[in-house]
Amino acid sequence: MSDILIHSADGVTTITLNRVPKKNSFTQAMYGACADALQAAKDDASVRVVVFQGDATVFSAGNDIGDFLNNPPRQADAPVFRFLRGIAAFPKPIVAAVCGPAVGIGTTMLFHCDLVYAGDNAAFSMPFVNLGVCPEAASSLLVPQMMGYHRAAEALLMGDPFMAEAAMEVGLVNRIVPPTEANQVAQAQARKLAAKPLSSLLETKRLMKSGQMAQVLARIDEEAESFGRMLGEPASREAFTAFMEKRKPDFSKV
Ligand code: COA
Repeated sequence: MSDILIHSADGVTTITLNRVPKKNSFTQAMYGACADALQAAKDDASVRVVVFQGDATVFSAGNDIGDFLNNPPRQADAPVFRFLRGIAAFPKPIVAAVCGPAVGIGTTMLFHCDLVYAGDNAAFSMPFVNLGVCPEAASSLLVPQMMGYHRAAEALLMGDPFMAEAAMEVGLVNRIVPPTEANQVAQAQARKLAAKPLSSLLETKRLMKSGQMAQVLARIDEEAESFGRMLGEPASREAFTAFMEKRKPDFSKV
């Protein structure tokens, strides 16, 4: 599909978010395409590394809010949850290039990437509370672990955005680069990884992740259940309708 471009070369599969006029917000179809691309990359012995990238102006504005209203993902096998389980358990290295807004899943998916290169314009945010829903992608587990509880509370309870410098300080970003160079840097790093022995990459990633993989996957499911329920409730309906109507939400009655 043209909203997601998939290209494989030199042992690297690149997944490009390509819905820039809508700030690369994810529809269910886009999650499905990413989940399928990850499965194909996992099964293909010639693929050693996956890269996720947007362009120099935007990584992703998170879930497509209109799609959420019309097509809420309530089943455990919905494309979004297939994508989340796929990226969390992906055995090969994943490199991400992030520029501009990285909202919601645009930030939380990075906790499942191994190397993250950010443009100096990158702005991360997880505004789930402001949308009347709750964290996803095991971010309720992984954000406090990475940032410490109080900084996680600012990010997850307040929904405060944070810029590339702060993301690097907490360890979410490896390096900050000019936005026009982020994709090239990620590609170069991916090619360096692809030249290394696959068996060692796989085993090293498995060992780094194995301590809490079961817990991460269980948390993705637990969050998905809450998220699916909350999508039908008045707070999220008000938040999403307000976004579509380009007004501030009024939570005084919910
Ligand atoms: N879902 C659906 N459409 C979205 C979207 C989303 N998450 N994010 C942006 N868009 C659309 C806008 O409606 C707009 O469409 P239009 O041109 O048809 O009016 C277009 O993308 C451009 O967005 P705009 O808000 O004008 O761009 P901006 O540069 O001023 O702001 C963001 C960029 C990302 C800060 C802002 O779009 C935003 O806050 N988006 C919502 C993020 C969000 O809450 N995501 C859900 C996380 S779970």
